Parts: sequence; structure tokens; C-alpha cells
Amino acid sequence: MHKDLKCILVGEEEIAGRVKELGEEITRDYKDKNLLCVGILNGSAVFMSDLIRKIKLPLRMEFMAASSYGSGSVSSGSVKITRDLNFDIAGYDVLIVEDIIDTGVTLSYIKEMLWERNPRSVKIAAIFDKPARRRTELKAEYTGFTVPDEFIVGYGLDYDRRYRNLPYIGVLKPEIYSKDTPGV
Ligand code: IMP
Ligand code: MG
Repeated sequence: MHKDLKCILVGEEEIAGRVKELGEEITRDYKDKNLLCVGILNGSAVFMSDLIRKIKLPLRMEFMAASSYGSGSVSSGSVKITRDLNFDIAGYDVLIVEDIIDTGVTLSYIKEMLWERNPRSVKIAAIFDKPARRRTELKAEYTGFTVPDEFIVGYGLDYDRRYRNLPYIGVLKPEIYSKDTPGV
């Protein structure tokens, strides 16, 4: 285990098993559809690369990036698109691929924005879900693991841009993670 972690929440093999199941489920559901996976950078990169290799269908993959404003618990709820798609999504069955849904503010905004571009459908796949902190009605159609209200890192998730390469997810030691840090 990495020295900055208090504990491991979900191990590498457990994640791999769940990603495979999600891939199989998506393969069944999108059989006769026009699948376009849209990843939200940077956090989704690891999940995206594992997930698409478990989807046994023709598909397209694109990425966009967003940042939410406001500081942690007192977030203003506004989202800025820092990198948009350069691809017309009209007619596609869009599957937004995300690392974690926390308050849900980021994905609610992105989902609404993508809907306005006339895709055939928009659904969400998030490998981790932290429902305790939700501030919107948002629900993902595909979720990997429900996690407790703690700041987690690994499998694409960062703290201060670090730890994304850990193959498992864990909880940071309190002395490393400051409570006032916004979840970005
Ligand atoms: P939301 O708009 O609050 O749902 O924010 C979601 C984003 O916050 C995710 O895409 C992550 O980048 C980040 N985030 C939320 N919780 C965590 C966490 O526990 N660890 C690392 N990043 C997190
Ligand atoms: Mg993110």
C-alpha cells in the first residue's frame, strides 16, 4: 500500500472484475445503438481505457474536460468547460464516462449541455459513486462501486494531481489531505 494512504477501499482485482461486468452490461444494452463514449478528463482516463476494452461492440471515444468553481463544501455550483468536444454528437448514443460522482454538479451540467446537441441518448457510467454528498437529482445508469464520504485517490482519481496511477483506490491519511481542499 502507498505510504500516504490510510487504507485501501477497493483492490485492483475487484475493480477489474467490476469493469468487466459493466462492459458486458453495456455490450448488451448498446447492441443496436451508435455508441459514443465521452470521457471527462483527467480522472476518467484510466477507467475509460479499461472499460472500452470490455465493450465488444464498434464504438467511438472522445474526451472533454471541465472544472467546477467554488471551494469544496461551499461550491458555487458553476461549471466551466475547459476543453469541449470537436465532434458533432447528433444521432449518437452518448455514454459519459466519469471517475466519480460526488455532488453531481459537474455531470448534471455536462449532461444538459450535451442533450442540447441532439444526440439520440445520453447516459452515464461512473466507476465510483459517493451518494452521501449529492446535491442534484443526478443518477448514473452504470456505477461500479458506492464509496463512503471520504476523499479517495487512485485508479485515475487524484489529490493535487498525484496518485492517479495507483491500481487500487484508497483513503488518504488526514495529514496529507486537508479538509478545505476542493474536490477537483
Ligand atoms: P462533482 O461535480 O462534485 O460530482 O465532482 C466530481 C469531480 O470531483 C470528479 O470528477 C473528481 O474529479 C472530483 N472528486 C470528487 N470526489 C473525489 C474524491 O474522493 N477523490 C478525488 N476526486 C474527487
Ligand atoms: Mg474528474
